Amino acid sequence: MTEFLELRNITKSFGKVNAVSNVNLKVGQPEIIGLIGDNGAGKSTLIKMIAGVHKPDSGEIFIRGQKMDYWSVTQARAMGIETVYQDRALVVQQTIARNIFMGREKTGWLGFMNVKQQFAEADHLMRAIGFTSKVFSSDSIVATLSGGERQGVAIARALYFKADLIILDEPTTALSLTESEKVFNFVRQIKEQGSSCIFISHNIYHTYDICERFVVIDRGEIVMETDKTQISAEQLVKELQVIARAGHQPAAPGRSQSIMP
Ligand SMILES: Nc1ncnc2c1ncn2[C@@H]1O[C@H](COP(=O)(O)OP(=O)(O)OP(=O)(O)O)[C@@H](O)[C@H]1O
Ligand SMILES: [Mg+2]
Repeated sequence: MTEFLELRNITKSFGKVNAVSNVNLKVGQPEIIGLIGDNGAGKSTLIKMIAGVHKPDSGEIFIRGQKMDYWSVTQARAMGIETVYQDRALVVQQTIARNIFMGREKTGWLGFMNVKQQFAEADHLMRAIGFTSKVFSSDSIVATLSGGERQGVAIARALYFKADLIILDEPTTALSLTESEKVFNFVRQIKEQGSSCIFISHNIYHTYDICERFVVIDRGEIVMETDKTQISAEQLVKELQVIARAGHQPAAPGRSQSIMP
């Protein structure tokens, strides 16, 4: 495994809120990391800095050992980082193929979009990552897919464009267990293709099976990092409960989810 990404002392505040404080993190390739933490712990802020959406107040980002002096969404993508957000991932009125190639359309003669080639390649890709359903193909409209399958399309898109690191921000939160299982299978394909994944979740039971390493963030700080070989799911849940109790604050209205199962 080689080192793909390194964050050194990354910090980000929003006004008086220290969303992320002095975070150091290394991501190898290939590996699947579970980034776990309660509501407001700083997970999304952290990955948005990796994705170039937020500029860190301080700290450094290294890709393959090289310090990035300039960092933006475009730069992050150019360096092989793709982020999949649960709700904004896809244009649901469009076909699977259009979604996969959106913004990076295949063009042919006179610069027209090569729809046939897009469908063919999207079909191939969907099968390769394990879309087994016979009822749809790459010209199916995304609105007809289940939540898990939609995540699959977003992951397929990232894989097609050879992302080295695919970040999934709570891809299973709104899904049933069966649907979540679909997403887990797509995530396994990420590693099989030699890429890495940061999988964000509140819930250890949504991540324990597929992740190889766990990074726990609490109130902006990384409070625990462990390989799966070092800890059972039950032990990890206990550790998370201790962390949650130590810093327990009343949940904000309407945000009742917890890392505690
Ligand atoms: N754009 C923003 N402006 C102001 N405050 C923000 C912004 N984004 C995040 N925060 C604050 O930073 C802290 C960390 O938020 P963040 O969204 O990173 O948490 P999270 O771990 O992703 O939580 P969740 O599990 O609810 O998605 C929270 O206190 C949040 O209110
Ligand atoms: Mg979040």
